[in-house]
Amino acid sequence: MTPGLIIAKKRDGGTLTAQEIQEFISGYVDGSVPDYQTAALLMAIYLRGMNTAETAALTECMLRSGEVLQWSSSVPHVDKHSTGGIGDKTSLILAPLLACCGLQVPMISGRGLGATGGTLDKLEAIPGFRTDLSREEIQAITERVGCVITGATADLAPADRKLYALRDVTATVASIPLITASIMSKKLAESLQSLVLDVKFGSGAFMKTLDDARALACSMVATGERMGVRTTALLTGMNQPLGRMAGNAVEVNESVAALCGDGPDDLMEVTLALGAELLVSAGVEQSLSAAKSKLGSHLASGAGIEKFREMVAAQGGNLDADRPLAPAHEVPALHDGFVSAIDTESLGHAIIELGGGRKKMSDRLDHSVGLEMLVRLGDRVERGKAMVRIFTNADIARGVSGLIEQAIQIGDSPSASPSLVAGRVTRENISA
Ligand code: URA
Repeated sequence: MTPGLIIAKKRDGGTLTAQEIQEFISGYVDGSVPDYQTAALLMAIYLRGMNTAETAALTECMLRSGEVLQWSSSVPHVDKHSTGGIGDKTSLILAPLLACCGLQVPMISGRGLGATGGTLDKLEAIPGFRTDLSREEIQAITERVGCVITGATADLAPADRKLYALRDVTATVASIPLITASIMSKKLAESLQSLVLDVKFGSGAFMKTLDDARALACSMVATGERMGVRTTALLTGMNQPLGRMAGNAVEVNESVAALCGDGPDDLMEVTLALGAELLVSAGVEQSLSAAKSKLGSHLASGAGIEKFREMVAAQGGNLDADRPLAPAHEVPALHDGFVSAIDTESLGHAIIELGGGRKKMSDRLDHSVGLEMLVRLGDRVERGKAMVRIFTNADIARGVSGLIEQAIQIGDSPSASPSLVAGRVTRENISA
């Protein structure tokens, strides 16, 4: 293999063979191909793209660069991946509900990325909760409890860790084939039967438009299916936070309430829609509506919250221990009108300012801070009435209030409320 020839082939718009991709990436992982040549290939891929076969080959060799989870039972293993948003706590509710339905859920999750929150950061608001389980612990807890939510082990898709760090500093993150291979290599290392993707679009999402979200969803569904995993995707709106709470402890609290049957409508709509996709694709239920009823029955019976409690305990956490909340301060509307737009990404940055997210990798989080949305898109607001509650100390609240006032646009007339689940991508309707 001559790395320069592979780079030139992609630079000139050629299609790489699986062998070329495999040899290049293996060389990068073992150190025989240097960063500068890999950066050049990444930029060529960023500019020229990759077809489905190339993307699947890249995913496969990233996946094979490390260990994969192994299962001793024939119970279907399933998972959900979200491309990230503000207030997105669906994983905390969905994993135990799916386990209650007899599925096994080895959910490998991440930390906050940019303005979006991270599942691991939220769960670490539970005293004692461990997110650094070994492969053996992940396998044992999944098989015993039915679900686990933890971080990637060092040996899971190590090629992605090395490539992602290089993409981060070479302006090559925002590439559909590279994002697809990065996400799918980690998910497929869980040895799943079915996967559902929550591809978010809107002001608080990585993908700002529905069309871009659909393109990413098609690429990931095509890659998952090609690699033998039943994969479906929902395109869901992120033009406002999901649920009322955004932060860490506040989102755990909202998830616990949801598992006790008291979740906000939008959060439950997305959670049940994602769960239903998995129950149908894993063959547990025949229709999405029957699947939603089944998930709902585990909320109603209390089985969902009990399963969450069991998972938390298995991971060293204590759900009954105090989760401190910072003092609350209200941000009032500056004039009368209707909530016409929300810059959701700015709300994510406001949470980072509070200390609930990171400005740099080494930052320690304050799990007690966050936001409570008291208004939603289309709601009528009155001057002086609270729109958002901020959990933080008084000095920080004063600084962050301005950010929040600017993020919430108040117009003169009510706007149509946007649909939350705006599209569904399956192997039958993938557009190339
Ligand atoms: N998340 C990932 O894991 N990888 C990407 O490339 C983008 C988002």
